[in-house]
Parts: sequence; C-alpha cells; structure tokens
Amino acid sequence: MAKYTKSLISFPILLHTLCFLLFPQPLLSQDNDFVRQPASQLIITPHQRSNSDPQQVHISLVGKDKMRVSWITEDNEAKSVVEYGTKEGVYSEKSMGEHTSYQYFFYNSGKIHNTVIGPLEPNTTYFYKCGGLGPEFSFKTPPSKFPIEFVIVGDLGQTEWTASTLKHVDKSDYDVFLLPGDLSYADSQQPLWDSFGRLVEPYASKRPWMVTEGNHEIEIFPIIYPNGFKAYNARWPMPFQQSGSNSNLYYSFEVAGTHIIMLGSYSDFNVESQQYNWLQLDLAKIDRVKTPWVITLLHAPWYNSNEAHQGEGESMRQAMEELLYEARVDLVFAGHVHAYERFTRIYDNQADSCGPMYVTIGDGGNREGLALKFEKPTSPLSLFREPSFGHGRLRILNETHAHWSWHRNNDTNAIVADGIWIESLSNLKACSETPNNQVAHEEL
Ligand SMILES: [Fe+2]
Repeated sequence: MAKYTKSLISFPILLHTLCFLLFPQPLLSQDNDFVRQPASQLIITPHQRSNSDPQQVHISLVGKDKMRVSWITEDNEAKSVVEYGTKEGVYSEKSMGEHTSYQYFFYNSGKIHNTVIGPLEPNTTYFYKCGGLGPEFSFKTPPSKFPIEFVIVGDLGQTEWTASTLKHVDKSDYDVFLLPGDLSYADSQQPLWDSFGRLVEPYASKRPWMVTEGNHEIEIFPIIYPNGFKAYNARWPMPFQQSGSNSNLYYSFEVAGTHIIMLGSYSDFNVESQQYNWLQLDLAKIDRVKTPWVITLLHAPWYNSNEAHQGEGESMRQAMEELLYEARVDLVFAGHVHAYERFTRIYDNQADSCGPMYVTIGDGGNREGLALKFEKPTSPLSLFREPSFGHGRLRILNETHAHWSWHRNNDTNAIVADGIWIESLSNLKACSETPNNQVAHEEL
C-alpha cells in the first residue's frame, strides 16, 4: 500500500493548491466556458498487492506479432521479466524488458516496467506473469485477418461513469481498445495516474490498449516541466519507433488489414513540423491492398457542432486535412467534447463522398460531466448527436465493409443507439483517382 495510498489525499490537494496559486493557467483544462451536467463521483482505486507485485498492468501492440506488457512495482528490486505461454500456469517463454521511473515535484513514481514479448500467434489466448510474482493475467491477441472489432472511447477518466463504461464495454468481446486522448484526468496529481492504472488493469491487461494524448495528459509546468507529458510518456509508451515517428505523441500501427494513425493534437502539427513530415511519409507508405482500411484518431475534433471546445481543432484541420483527404482516410475519431456526434463524409467543411467520416466519441466518463449544448440549427453535416456517456464499436467485416455502432451506458449492450454501415474508400472507384495514385500511375 505504502506511498501511493498514504499520500493520495494530502499530497495532491497540497500540490494542486500550490500549483493553482502560483500558476493557475497551465493546470486548467480548456473546459471552463460552458455548463455541464453534474459529474459522477471520482473513484480512487487503492493498491492492494505487495510492493513487489505488479500493478497497473496493461498491454499494447508492437509491430506485427508482438505485445508490450507494462506494469509498475513499488519495489525497485523487482525484475522486468514476463513469463508467458498458451496454457494456464505453464510459461514456456520468457522475455526481459526495460524499466524507467520519473519524478514530478515531490512525487517519485514506482518502477515502471516495459517488456516486449513475442512473436505471438494471432487470435490466441496467452497467460502471463510479470516479474515472477503476483497474479496470473491473460490476453487474447488480435486476429491477423478480418473480421476485427475495435472499441473506441475517449475522455475516460476515473469516475463511476468510467467504471460503468468499462463494464459495458466488457460485456461483448472485441480485439483492440482505441483511446483518442484524456486518460486519467490526473492533471498533475500524480497519484491519480496510479489510481487510473489500477482501475483499468482488469480491461487493459487482457486486450491491447492503443492511446494518443489529450489535453489532460499535458501536465506542463513552466520552467520546471516545460515539455509536459512526463507521466503519459513514461506510463503509456506506444510503438512509435516502429512507424518511423520520433515521438510517443504520434505514431501509426497496422492490425488485421487496418492502418491506424494516432495523431497528436498537442504536438506541433504545422507544415514545417516533424509530425506533419512524419504523417506525409506514413500516408505514402500505406498499401491499400494490404490495409484497405485507414483510420485516424486525434483528440480535439476537426468537426464539432457542440458549443464546447468550438474551433479548438481548427488550426490542425487546416494544416492536415488535405493530407488525410488525399490519402482517402476512411474514418477520423476524436474525443475532447464530452458527447457523441457522428458526421457525414466531409472535406473542407462540405459533404464529400471521398472524405473521411468524422466521429466525436469523448463520452467515456470524465470527471467534468457531459457537454450538453449543441449548436442550433443543426449543421447538415452532423447526422447524429447526443450528450450521453457510452462507447463506440467499429467492426470491420472484410476489405470493403464495416459497421460502426454507438452504445449508451444506460442501455443494454445489445442496443445500438446509433449505427451505420460504411464502405471503404479503397473500394470506391469514384475515389480512386487521388493525387497520390496519379503520381503512381505516371511512374508506372
Ligand atoms: Fe480533452
């Protein structure tokens, strides 16, 4: 139990008060300019294992057939080893990994372990143990071919609504969890990162969680921590190197015929930026025969008819929308706005059958409540909008067709509050003549 639980009440309140008094602006989210429904109770998830036992276990995809196992121990002597195998209690394989830790003001993190295991078989259940101690965990690898099902939900937080969303998600099977930013809402109160890790462990230890950053991950403190993302980068490392990115804040990966681009709304995105250059190269490398579906996730929505966060994604849209359009990206998912909204296919503020379909899915369960007010009259581009907590599912059936559904926490999981069939742009002849294709044709 030691340091986390003991310090949970006194330290964060003290630090937050101090920070607020000294530097109020950087620690505030951008969520203070509209009225929200009252939020539900924060859940603090205590540490209940021994100091050398793993806690906050979560997994993420690395390359074609590997998995990164991440966990934390309070004991600095604990080893970064993962033993694993396909039979319960029998570990035929073993991998050694790395460890790190970080400091944030007076807070010292536990030992953060990251161990990549594999190669692994697709669509297979593995049992594993971290550091040779504590409980056995298990996960299922994603399939190597269609069909594949993604759960997508942003702005998760750690409230009673979060718990409700995660339980709801867990009622139906899926392969990969995608999170477009705003994880713990720790907002510099570091013990809340630990509490969040423990809350999500039952889910994030059995299916890969692939995340990108939101504004609540920034945690910049002037002069002392000017670059931010200290906790996020240490605790939630994503496979950015594998896609040629030089930052954990933006990367791509491929799974079962789907190319997924995780963009960084809070990393420089202008035309001269490293993220922009990386995105150009990444899009150029996509082979639509191998990955007929291309999906992008980012935090601040480019299209949004809610009164909350109006215009916050606009400069990024202006910088990058053309790249995604020319590459015929199928879907763009965002968070940040605490509601659900589905748009039609769009390019440059107009309906365009060759543009991505845009979805805002920032309704995971944050501590700030829902974004209740939508603009009136309704934009013809916005096809469904509702401020309710819930999650989305993208089931890609094959190379050409997928089904998107949105599920409210208040309904049973079988109820589809909003659903639509989608055809991949790679299958639409009318959209095949992109500038990229034209170049390819000329070269041929
Ligand atoms: Fe946000």
